[in-house]
Amino acid sequence: MLIKLPKASDCKESDVTPESFYLSRRALLGSSLAAMAAGALPRWASAEDAVRYADVEPGRAPAWFTDKLPQTKWQAVAVTGEAITPFKDATHYNNFYEFGTDKGDPAQNAGALKTEPWTVVVDGEVGKPGRYALEDFMKPYQLEERVYRLRCVEAWSMVIPWMGFPISALLKQVEPTSKAKYIRFETLQDPKVMPGQRSGFALIDWPYVEGLRLDEAMNPLAILAVGMYGRELPNQNGAPLRLIVPWKYGFKSVKSIVRISLVEQQPKTTWQSIAADEYGFYANVNPQVDHPRWTQARERRLPSGLFSPNVRDTQMFNGYADEVASLYAGLDLRKNY
Ligand code: MTE
Repeated sequence: MLIKLPKASDCKESDVTPESFYLSRRALLGSSLAAMAAGALPRWASAEDAVRYADVEPGRAPAWFTDKLPQTKWQAVAVTGEAITPFKDATHYNNFYEFGTDKGDPAQNAGALKTEPWTVVVDGEVGKPGRYALEDFMKPYQLEERVYRLRCVEAWSMVIPWMGFPISALLKQVEPTSKAKYIRFETLQDPKVMPGQRSGFALIDWPYVEGLRLDEAMNPLAILAVGMYGRELPNQNGAPLRLIVPWKYGFKSVKSIVRISLVEQQPKTTWQSIAADEYGFYANVNPQVDHPRWTQARERRLPSGLFSPNVRDTQMFNGYADEVASLYAGLDLRKNY
């Protein structure tokens, strides 16, 4: 992963969207999407909302997704005092190497990915293995909106309103055996629609794989996401199902998942396999442990530009230390990066 880190400077108040804009928009968007599902036109509460969030494209949600909107728990977790990243940045500055290595490639190329129908396999050390159509897989779960910071190991960050459900709810359904110590996730492998999988960018041994310790997966902050900004996930963001672990670097949040396996041994994960000295299994956001080639003490919050680089200090566990630090009590975080 390459990086261009601009000179440090503080984030200006004027760069920050007042949360009230977002909150009012959230309630509104929820009702507009529900209204759209019912065949009505979306309506905006205020001109302010309409202007600032005009770039949120409604998408083409599958029926199982829109059916869940009325029961969705909006703002189940919020980030206070920090602006939500504009939809345009979150959907046009992406890492999804299956669709190319430039930040704009996923938005350009991921449209070819067909997310309906979609099958998810659950296997390994579980009492209830299965192969599910996504709409059946999703049946037991109520969606929650979680506004989380996303901190990439390349030192840029965003604030994104995801929609998903806790992995703990999935584990309750599939009943891990006593042998299950880790959970492993695998992305779709389809070189026909994923140019990165047929290109000479052979560093990655496809499919993209990520994993968590079982107790990490059980943490209430860890979710599987199916939506963002009140709509289903755009393809470039990992439709139709992706992992979100907000206290870890973004590369842990594997996209377009087709297989979830409960396993006894720590899974071999993609970036660890490529460069184990640079990308660890844990990948906890840690401003005190630098990447061998750059500092992790600061991050560039998008949107950022030459004249407004919007650089801020990185927080331990990406600001989620209260919720997750106990998972790593007694662990040397320098060795277990
Ligand atoms: N998942 C797959 N399958 N392929 C990838 O290349 N990139 C990861 C992660 N998930 C990646 C992936 C990295 S490096 C990051 S930072 C995040 O996705 C980026 O998520 P975003 O594009 O939605 O911001």
